[in-house]
Amino acid sequence: MQEVRLGVIGCGQMAMHHMGYFSKIARLKFTAASDTDPERVKKVVDTYNVKGFDDGMKVIDPNLVDAVLIATPHYFHPQYAIAAMEKGIHVLTEKPVAVTAKAAEKMNEAHRKFNKTIYAIMFQSRTFPVWKKAKQIIDSGELGKLQRVTWIVTNWFRSQAYYDSGTWRATWAGEGGGVLINQCPHNLDLLTWLVGVPKLVSANVRLGHYHHIEVEDDVNAYLEFPDGATGNFITTTGEAPGTDLLEIAGDWGKLVITGNSNKIELHKNHVAAAEFCRTTKEMWATPGRDKVTIEVGGSSTHHQAITENFVAAVLDGEKLIAPGEDGIKGLELGNAMLMSGLLNKPIAIPTDRDAFEKLINDLSAKSKFQKGAVKKTVADMAGSFR
Ligand SMILES: NC(=O)c1ccc[n+]([C@@H]2O[C@H](COP(=O)([O-])OP(=O)(O)OC[C@H]3O[C@@H](n4cnc5c(N)ncnc54)[C@H](O)[C@@H]3O)[C@@H](O)[C@H]2O)c1
Repeated sequence: MQEVRLGVIGCGQMAMHHMGYFSKIARLKFTAASDTDPERVKKVVDTYNVKGFDDGMKVIDPNLVDAVLIATPHYFHPQYAIAAMEKGIHVLTEKPVAVTAKAAEKMNEAHRKFNKTIYAIMFQSRTFPVWKKAKQIIDSGELGKLQRVTWIVTNWFRSQAYYDSGTWRATWAGEGGGVLINQCPHNLDLLTWLVGVPKLVSANVRLGHYHHIEVEDDVNAYLEFPDGATGNFITTTGEAPGTDLLEIAGDWGKLVITGNSNKIELHKNHVAAAEFCRTTKEMWATPGRDKVTIEVGGSSTHHQAITENFVAAVLDGEKLIAPGEDGIKGLELGNAMLMSGLLNKPIAIPTDRDAFEKLINDLSAKSKFQKGAVKKTVADMAGSFR
């Protein structure tokens, strides 16, 4: 294969952004697009001279495409991904991979079965120099044994007007959740990518606390990791000005990243904290330490970098930056936070995926956005997911 013929499913805001850089990727040939909204398909067909369809399943045809990029609302990602894999078509899906870990696991199962296909997810944050550097520091063991991870990410402020801009938005049946499923997937992915998946979550989750919405807009979670480290994840769409502060503390020091900056503050102990604690004879002493601010150079082409890597994975066997299988990790962490808050009890990971599925289904049944209306209403909506 010399080039990848790519079909796009869902022609909304995110897909239009992707289409804008396709011509910069030498071996990518954009050949087909679909959307349940005929006007959106027409616009894409007219602009890019591709074949257009009103049904995503019609794009999943080996005569038309070698790969698909799925950019529909989250609930539809699994059905298209699995259908594509079954036909030997490679899949690049938007985040979140699905709404529930159970659905994500079905995608992973399909990929294990149809393992000749390349399966990737649009986690473009993994290509940002600052996060690559943070991962390198953590993987090198420089921080020693992980002690604590705290991420306050409350700079996701959204107005009521934002939520009112689409009837599907912030509803159980239309979207499957609030800040955890819509705004936080990149944070939850980075957290699990950097330090692994917690084994236990205990969360306080408030539904419609700052907005007239049925889903969560305020989350305060406590985490426990398999090696004994603890963590906190705090997020909301109701705070302004918000904070974006990540601290990862280990026995040998601490890493601090504020906002999406290109700086990492690295504190390095001269002696590991545990050893110093054991051996010092001083009552009030703390380990000596150095503080370095690492200015991380370089840049990323963001989404384009992930799509380029996907094309290279299909054609050259290049290692994926964000394998689709990874999508379940941050998703299940978010599922666990929601379940813990709603049921008011700690939740172990892996979660009881059937129980979470039932919880979402029960909430969806009472949702003001009814499932039967999803297709039509989503197709009609003018707004978009973030
Ligand atoms: N990676 C990122 O940084 C990022 C940023 C924004 C959005 N996203 C993700 O991209 C996805 C789409 O978000 P968006 O902002 O483009 O939303 P959008 O509403 O602008 O676009 C979704 C499109 O899908 C179409 N659609 C709905 N149901 C469909 C179906 N069954 N088959 C085919 N088309 C269908 C809609 O008509 C609409 O045109 C979401 O999952 C979102 O989380 C990712």
